[in-house]
Parts: sequence; C-alpha cells; structure tokens
Amino acid sequence: MPNGDLQLAGYYAARAAEYERIYDKPERQAELQRLRALIPAYLAGRSVLEIACGTGYWTQHIAPVALGITALDINPETLAIARAKPLPPDRVRFETADVHALYPRHQGYSGAFAGFWWSHLKRGERREFFDGLHRALAPGAVVVLLDNRYVAGSSTPISRSDADGNTYQQRALDDGTQYEVLKNFPQAEELLAETPAAASGVEYTALDYYWVLRYALAG
Ligand SMILES: C[S@@+](CC[C@H](N)C(=O)[O-])C[C@H]1O[C@@H](n2cnc3c(N)ncnc32)[C@H](O)[C@@H]1O
Repeated sequence: MPNGDLQLAGYYAARAAEYERIYDKPERQAELQRLRALIPAYLAGRSVLEIACGTGYWTQHIAPVALGITALDINPETLAIARAKPLPPDRVRFETADVHALYPRHQGYSGAFAGFWWSHLKRGERREFFDGLHRALAPGAVVVLLDNRYVAGSSTPISRSDADGNTYQQRALDDGTQYEVLKNFPQAEELLAETPAAASGVEYTALDYYWVLRYALAG
C-alpha cells in the first residue's frame, strides 16, 4: 500500500466511532434522502461489490434491493460497526480487504459501489484503481460512484494543494488528534473524461453537496 494510503487507513480506523456523524449534517438531509433512493435503484437485482464500505452506511441501503453485496474495507474498526447492523447474512458479506488488491479474489460482480472513495485517490492513482476495479466485474456491470462537492461553509476547507493538483484537508478527531487527509473534488468534465471509452449509460448527477456517477461496462 502506498504510504499516503496507510495514513488514510489509520485516520479512518481512529475515526470509526465518530464517522456516521457526517450523515447528520442538517443542511444535507434532503439530498441524502434523494441519494438513499437513487443509489440502491442503480444496483437493484445485481451482485454488488462495495469497496471501502466503512461503517456500512450505504451497504444497509443497497442490501434490501441487491441480489447480494460483498462489502470491503481495510479497517476492522469500521467493519465492526458495519457488522453490527441488522443485515441479512445470506445476502451481505463484510470482508477486510485492500481496494488495491481486488482481483482475482474478487471477480464476476454485476455491480460496484464506492462511496466517498474517489476523492481519496490521487490523480495519478485513478487509472490503476479503476483498471483493478473493472477486472473484478463482469461484462455489462454497473459502476456507481458517490462523493462530495466542495461547499464553502459546509465542507472542511482545503488546506493545501500539491504539485500534481491534489488537494488536502486538515481534520481533527474528538480527541484532538490532527490528520492531513487527501480529498479531491472533481469537475464534471474530469470525471466524464475518465469513464472507460466503451462505457454506456453514463449518468452524472450533481447535487449541491454530492455528485453521483453511474456507468455500465461494455457487455
Ligand atoms: C470516506 S470513508 C467511506 C466509507 C463509506 N464508503 C461511506 O460512504 O460511508 C473511506 C473508507 O475507506 C477505507 N479505506 C481506506 N483505505 C482503504 C484501502 N486501501 N482499502 C479499503 N478500504 C480503505 C477506510 O477505512 C474508510 O472506511
């Protein structure tokens, strides 16, 4: 795992118990309600690979309509919270795994979901990550990405940019520990340019606080 990823994983392990507060921000409730309908609808009836599932917030909303869902995260701390959710064990499986090593253990899924993961990839890492994700999927699989748009006053401010154009935030946990966290915010054109050339059914939805990208791999 690259060094930056080790730091990121450590940050989310330490944040696990505080994590779901991010879904309580009052100004975001209307959009979250919309997303809790949109995202499961994209994945209905599919065998879903969810990567970096964290505490299973989206797993619990996708599981009722999916054929099945395998939800991966690098951190036992976040997965412990996910596993405590009342989800049907015959259709939901949580697993400790690194998103950078999906294939060949993981393959043949007809859907993929990644919530708030794109933003933690460096610009130079995206191609490799998506190639790896696509190898874990079957022809015609649907890929759904959800992430943040930057909103001044609601988002944590950007503290710096690096030479490659990646942006970072300074974040504090309840115990006062400070972390620098990579967090990129895309332009729509940048996202659309990165979807595979053979993808079909590309849909980009921009809300105020969130963006969603959906595409299907060639069948
Ligand atoms: C922003 S959280 C997203 C959690 C969840 N997807 C959600 O939408 O609520 C990012 C997650 O990525 C996980 N993570 C960090 N590095 C990872 C890696 N290399 N492989 C798998 N998961 C990783 C963290 O443990 C954390 O749960």
